[in-house]
Amino acid sequence: MFSYEEIKTIRNHFPSLNNQDNHRIYFDNAATTQKPVQVINAINKYYCHLNSNVNRSFNLLDQWTNNDLELSRTNMKDFIHAKYRDEIIFTSGTTESINLIAFCLSNMINKSDDIIISHSEHHSNIIPWQVLIQNKNAHLKVIPVNSEGELNLIVLKQLITKNTKLISISHVTNTFGIINPIQKLIQTAHKYKALVLIDGSQAISHISIDVQKLDCDFYVFSIHKMYGPTGLGILYGKQKVLDKFTPYQGGGGMIEQVTFNQTIFSGLPFKLEAGTPNIAGIIGTNKALTFLGNYSMIQIKHYENKLIQYAIQMLMNIHGIQIYYKNSKRTQMLSFNIEKIHYFDLGQLLNNYGIAVRTGTHCAQPIMDYLNINGTIRLSFALYNTMAEIDIFYHYLIKCLYILSYDQKHSTFKVNKFKRIRINT
Ligand code: ALA
Repeated sequence: MFSYEEIKTIRNHFPSLNNQDNHRIYFDNAATTQKPVQVINAINKYYCHLNSNVNRSFNLLDQWTNNDLELSRTNMKDFIHAKYRDEIIFTSGTTESINLIAFCLSNMINKSDDIIISHSEHHSNIIPWQVLIQNKNAHLKVIPVNSEGELNLIVLKQLITKNTKLISISHVTNTFGIINPIQKLIQTAHKYKALVLIDGSQAISHISIDVQKLDCDFYVFSIHKMYGPTGLGILYGKQKVLDKFTPYQGGGGMIEQVTFNQTIFSGLPFKLEAGTPNIAGIIGTNKALTFLGNYSMIQIKHYENKLIQYAIQMLMNIHGIQIYYKNSKRTQMLSFNIEKIHYFDLGQLLNNYGIAVRTGTHCAQPIMDYLNINGTIRLSFALYNTMAEIDIFYHYLIKCLYILSYDQKHSTFKVNKFKRIRINT
């Protein structure tokens, strides 16, 4: 657990949290986290003092930039406990990582093969597979969720066959923050020789990741959800699997030799990184890793869990509230609705009071359809959030609910009991 002083120090790293013109409570960290000054300064320094391409000109600036970029790759390898640096591919984000894998796997998917996803995926882990199976006349199967909102592994055992080529699943769902039992899923998949892709977007800055222990074939995530810059993602893939991939895109930086008759591609990781990479972003990523490296992931998980439990405890005072999968194994976030109150109205009003939450389907319409709802209000936390912020949020939530109930002439709104507002973390 972090002390009040520690959280204050952490918050001091984030200019946006200390910007008086922009004073707000930010509970939308699952969409993107705020950026520490170290990341911002590194990007600024690159553009002000270095600004050179990589692996192109072989001048001194190019070499320095290249060293910084490759250091970031090495540190990322260590952060997720990958075996080789070549297994770390820089992409533009989780979406590109998944699309890249779908493109490269298309050679290995035949008619009558199948791909399995879950009912609880983000659209970026649904649509690339739909496109692939349509092109190949293959099948898409869907694992339902159980009463805890977790993957129903019993049904998985009925769905999986020797024709299953891939299972692609989120580590933590982006709608409700449920931690999926991926270890068991990976073991089951490998018995059938199916590859496993884990979408770690909502796990990467909240849970310690060891891709070798997990034994997943791919692990993908976006850097902007782990205190780093936007426009950058990671595709981790086992070397022996990535070696079989033919390039996703052709261009500069990914070749050994080009003639009109034949092109010889570079080896990993470069054959999957055509074109000038997001150099500033990759350099900034290294600083995000250093920032995160100051804290233990166990400590972060523990602290964020306290925030979630406290928020749940406060919200349970509200009559007509439904917190989805309230008692499930979760991290970082929670989603709710309040009877007779539209999530959009509530989200907009909270925004007027300087409180940022996300409302809607969270790019996961199938799970919303399954629950027969058209959206939720989602609170998602990061290590700089505090219990005092939850108190302020709660205070304004009650205020908003009275406004909305008054406007809509609802007489059902009640708060079971008021809690005293805390004045520190
Ligand atoms: N995938 C991000 C979210 O869930 C944008 O908010």
